[in-house]
Amino acid sequence: MADFKEVPADAPVAQKVTTWFENRFPTAFAAYRVHMSEYYAPKNFNFWYFFGSLAMLVLVIQIVTGIFLVMHYKPDAAQAFASVEYIMRDVPGGWIIRYMHSTGASAFFIVVYLHMWRGMIYGSYRKPRELVWIFGCAIFLCLMAEAFMGYLLPWGQMSYWGAQVIVNLFAAIPFVGPDLALLIRGDYVVSDATLNRFFSFHVIAVPLVLLGLVVAHLFALHDVGSNNPDGVEIKAKKDARGIPLDGIPFHPYYTVHDILGVAVFLIAFSAILFFAPEFGGYFLEYNNFIPADPLKTPAHIAPVWYFTPYYSMLRAITSQMMYALIACVALGALLGVLKLRAAGIWKLAILGGALVVAALMLVIDAKFWGVVVMGGAVIILFFLPWLDYSPVKSIRYRPGWHKYVYAVFVVNFLILGYLGVQPPSLIGERVSQVGTLFYFGFFMLMPWWSRLGEFKPVPDRVTFAAH
Ligand code: HEM
Repeated sequence: MADFKEVPADAPVAQKVTTWFENRFPTAFAAYRVHMSEYYAPKNFNFWYFFGSLAMLVLVIQIVTGIFLVMHYKPDAAQAFASVEYIMRDVPGGWIIRYMHSTGASAFFIVVYLHMWRGMIYGSYRKPRELVWIFGCAIFLCLMAEAFMGYLLPWGQMSYWGAQVIVNLFAAIPFVGPDLALLIRGDYVVSDATLNRFFSFHVIAVPLVLLGLVVAHLFALHDVGSNNPDGVEIKAKKDARGIPLDGIPFHPYYTVHDILGVAVFLIAFSAILFFAPEFGGYFLEYNNFIPADPLKTPAHIAPVWYFTPYYSMLRAITSQMMYALIACVALGALLGVLKLRAAGIWKLAILGGALVVAALMLVIDAKFWGVVVMGGAVIILFFLPWLDYSPVKSIRYRPGWHKYVYAVFVVNFLILGYLGVQPPSLIGERVSQVGTLFYFGFFMLMPWWSRLGEFKPVPDRVTFAAH
C-alpha cells in the first residue's frame, strides 16, 4: 500500500480512474512509458521506418481474419476446397475476410522485404542490434513456414502439388531424408493427414512462435534503441536529464507519423482487395481454383511469388552447376590458405575440409545441394552482422559504388523472383545460376568489399530538416 499514488479530491475523473488502475497494475503503466511515451526514437526517421509498424498491422489483420476463416473452414481433404468456396459464396462477408487473408499474406512479405531492406541499407543489423536482426531473421523463417502451410489449406491443385514438391525436397537429405518427409506428410503422399497437421501448425503453433518472436524483436530493439537513416547512435549525446538530444518520444510523435504510413498502406491494400484480389495470378494462383487431384499433376508448378527467388536458386543447382560450386569451394579454400595468418595446421584443416566438401558435392545428388543452397540463402542472413566490415553503418556515408552493389543485389533478387515463376528454360537456368552466385557472393565476399573505397565522414548528430 505504501507506493499508492494519491489523487487530490478535486482532480478530474479521468485522472482518478487512471490512477486507480495504475495503483493496481503498475507494470502495464511502466511498460507504456518504456515502450511508448518515454521511448526516445531518433527524430530523423523517414518512410522506411513505416514498415515495422505496418508489419505489426498485417500480423493483426492475418490473426483476426484467420480467426473468422476458421469458423467455416473444414480441415478435411474431402471438404476443404468446398468449405473455402462456401466461405466465398455463401458466408455473409466471407469473401472479404478470405481476400483480406490471402492479400494479407502477400502484403506481409512485401512489407517485411522492405523492412529487411531498410535494415540492410542503414546497417541496422550491426552492433548493438545484432539480436534485433537475428530475431527478425527467425521471424522471416517462421513467416515462410506459416505461408507454406497456409497455402495447403484451400486444397487446390497448387496447394497440393506445391506441398508435394517442397516436402519431397526434404527426402533428398542423405540418410534421414525419406523418414523426415514421411514425418512431415504423415503419409506416403500429401493427404488428409498432411492437411490436418499443416492446419494445426498454421493456426496455432507457428502463430504463437511468431508472436513470441515479435515481442522479443521489439523488446531487444527498445533495450538498445533504434538506428536511423544516418546510422548515428543518438544515445551518445544526451541532455542533463539523460534524454538523447536527437530523440523524440515515440508517442505521440511516431504513433501519429505511422498513421500516414497506415493510411497509404490501407489505400493500396483496399485497391488490391476490391479490384484485383488475385493480382493476375500472383497472389492467388489460377490453378488453385481447381480442386486438388492427386492423379493429375499440373503442367507447371510454381510457388507463390514471395518464394520464387529461393525457388530459382533451387532450380539453378543442376549437376553441371555443381562443378561451378566445387570451383567456388576450391577458390575459397585457396584464399583462406593464402590470407589466414595462423599456424600451418589450420591451413591444412581448411584444405582437408574443402576436399571433403568437394568429394561430397560430387557424390551426393545435385537435388540435395539445391536444397542446401535454397536453405542457405535464408540462413546466411543470420550472419550479416558479422560479414559487414564497413567503418560506417548507413549507406549514406559509404562510397558511391556501394550503392550500385546494393542496387544490383535488389535487381538480381527480383530477376531470380521473376525466373522462379516462369517455366524452366535453358536461358532462365543460366541466368538463375549467375544470379545465385551473385546472391551468395554479395554476402560471402562482404568482409572484403564492404571495407573498400572512400567513406564519407559521419556527422556527430543526425541530419534533420523539419518539414
Ligand atoms: C512480423 C514481422 C516483423 C515485425 C512485426 C517487425 C516489427 C518491427 C518494428 C515495429 C520495428 C521498429 C520500427 C521500425 O524500425 O520499423 C522493427 C525494427 C527492426 N526490425 Fe523488424 N519486424 C518484423 C520482421 C523483421 C525481419 C524479418 C527483420 C530482418 C530479418 C527485421 C529486422 C529489424 C531491424 C534490424 C530493426 C531495427 C531497425 C532500426 O532501428 O533501424 N524485422 N521491427
